Amino acid sequence: MGTPEISLVVPHKGLIGSYAAALREGWSPNTFRDVSADELEAVEDDPDEFLRDLIAWEGTVELADGSPAPRLPFRIFWIDDGEFSGVIGLRFQHGTEELPDYVPGHIGYSIVPWKRRRGYATRALSLILPVARAEGLARVRVSCDAENEASKKVILSNGGKLIGMTPHDQETGRPTLSYWIET
Ligand SMILES: CC(C)(COP(=O)(O)OP(=O)(O)OC[C@H]1O[C@@H](n2cnc3c(N)ncnc32)[C@H](O)[C@@H]1OP(=O)(O)O)[C@@H](O)C(=O)NCCC(=O)NCCS
Repeated sequence: MGTPEISLVVPHKGLIGSYAAALREGWSPNTFRDVSADELEAVEDDPDEFLRDLIAWEGTVELADGSPAPRLPFRIFWIDDGEFSGVIGLRFQHGTEELPDYVPGHIGYSIVPWKRRRGYATRALSLILPVARAEGLARVRVSCDAENEASKKVILSNGGKLIGMTPHDQETGRPTLSYWIET
């Protein structure tokens, strides 16, 4: 069986029910910190405000150590196979492929556990590359935990060329591999 059809969509109300269901199952869109309980509270409290905040560019983000850092321009997409299946995001700085040292890569993704191993992450990464190109990036840096075999395959299947390994990633404290992917 081939990969089921997926598309990348800007987070919208039509998928908020299956997004909330994923949070209720304990899935967290942030792979460094478990934010499922906080997000679920926000979604249930006011779904419209939650969606507005999710795609808003302003403000700060909280780093793993709790300190605030300026939020970079970003594009966030939900992976849609008829219901919410995962998230993929692009963050970048205008006019440069450089990233601040607290940002490990341009692209991050997470698939809900019950839809993994269907090719969704591989396809989602291929679908976001033209978005990065349209933002002026000829290549993107993508990083993953050195032991994350699935993510390594996702990156390699999309043409990833190894840049190197960081022995102790700032966020995870674990070895991290970084790759360039041509858009
Ligand atoms: C990593 C992750 C995004 C992969 O998503 P996915 O949709 O299951 O990936 P795909 O189905 O596209 O699989 C890609 C490849 O990895 C393989 N793979 C998937 N899960 C695997 C696992 N647990 N162990 C080893 N290989 C695995 C697949 O068989 C496939 O191999 P192939 O290219 O040889 O066919 C998903 O496991 C996830 O969300 N993990 C938690 C968050 C995370 O680690 N995000 C990445 C941060 S950089």
